[in-house]
Amino acid sequence: MSQRNQISAFENKDGMRIAGLFAGVGGIERGLHLAGHETKMLCELDPHAACVLEDHFPGVPLHSDITTMRRLPAVDMIAAGFPCQDLSQAGQTSGIRGEQSGLIDNLFDLIRRAKPRPAWVLLENVPFMLFLHKGHAMQHVLEGLEDLGYSWAYRIIDAHAFGLPQRRKRMIILASRSGDPKSVLLSEDAGPTAPQRRADWWCGFYWTEGNSGVGWAVNAIPPLKGGSRVGIPSPPAIWIPDQHRIVLPDIQDAERLQGFPAGWTKPSGASFRDRLRWRMVGNAVSVPVAKWIGMRLSNPIEYDPQLEISFEREKGWPKAAWGKRGVQFAYPVSSWPVRRPMKPLSGFLRHPFTSLSLRAASGFLGRANNSGLRFEPEFLEDLEAQIARMRAEIDR
Ligand SMILES: C[S@@+](CC[C@H](N)C(=O)[O-])C[C@H]1O[C@@H](n2cnc3c(N)ncnc32)[C@H](O)[C@@H]1O
Repeated sequence: MSQRNQISAFENKDGMRIAGLFAGVGGIERGLHLAGHETKMLCELDPHAACVLEDHFPGVPLHSDITTMRRLPAVDMIAAGFPCQDLSQAGQTSGIRGEQSGLIDNLFDLIRRAKPRPAWVLLENVPFMLFLHKGHAMQHVLEGLEDLGYSWAYRIIDAHAFGLPQRRKRMIILASRSGDPKSVLLSEDAGPTAPQRRADWWCGFYWTEGNSGVGWAVNAIPPLKGGSRVGIPSPPAIWIPDQHRIVLPDIQDAERLQGFPAGWTKPSGASFRDRLRWRMVGNAVSVPVAKWIGMRLSNPIEYDPQLEISFEREKGWPKAAWGKRGVQFAYPVSSWPVRRPMKPLSGFLRHPFTSLSLRAASGFLGRANNSGLRFEPEFLEDLEAQIARMRAEIDR
């Protein structure tokens, strides 16, 4: 299906001018920048994230709150990884009308008033929005785009496909008034991957859980998150079977696991606590995903309409689709558009670990034992041995 079409998806051959709203620490913007596009304006409410943006995008006008923005600048694309708290499985799930995720309507109002309206819109959020409240959030966003004159394509994309040892699936929605979003987002596919078996790979998991799914990931970490069940942003833990240890990675490796250079959330002159940095990194869009979208915008691939499958919106949203007012088709693509070379987690991490603390390890073990979850016996043995070692050190 993938015959290259060298015509760029947009007219400006020097790259697109981007307005990055809900910019966080700029994952989308950095990725698009690496693909040759340019950020002309930023909007971010959190003062710490704004400080990171000022450091990496010097001279780019930065507005704080989307609710007080009067108008959009003249740009080719709006990029907006809008807040996910109300849409994620782990969050309040109040839905698209929730206080946070409902901010998408402020973005739609800004686009409605813009003259001319931006040619492209790139949105990012959690895949759970496909299913939450019978797909109502998806319906709201896609109908909102159609009302504004856009055709759209969406797809779940896993950052793991880009050589990062982090499993991180995200919903990407790309819309255009003049171009063809489906030949950017849907026409490249490396196919699904078989899950890795444990062997001796390092395994990532959420130590803050233990009474529900722990996000067990073989040779990878589960998605970095901005919060956790215990209310603090924190690193996932890593079990190192050959060393019989359970450790926490360094924040600088977390930045690299999102595709940023180490130290990205440590702006010069600021001294942010690690907890703050974990939150900012956990909220970010993985840089290589945005870079791939930016590259495909410049070099779209011909889309094969013969693979399209009809569907009815009322019966649920497929994992990937395209549409415009009155028309929609599902498209059979995986969450791996590419399959980039992957280092094992053990070879990827470069910075020193900290051992999972006695309190954290004991708390996790207690929750795990009282849950119906099943763990590998060797893992539980290593966890118990680590707790015993730490207790012995305290008693000495
Ligand atoms: C999912 S994160 C953004 C990730 C980011 N787009 C990236 O590429 O890495 C959502 C961001 O929206 C910001 N936000 C929440 N309410 C906002 C508002 N009223 N105005 C501007 N930004 C807001 C949050 O502080 C958070 O950083």
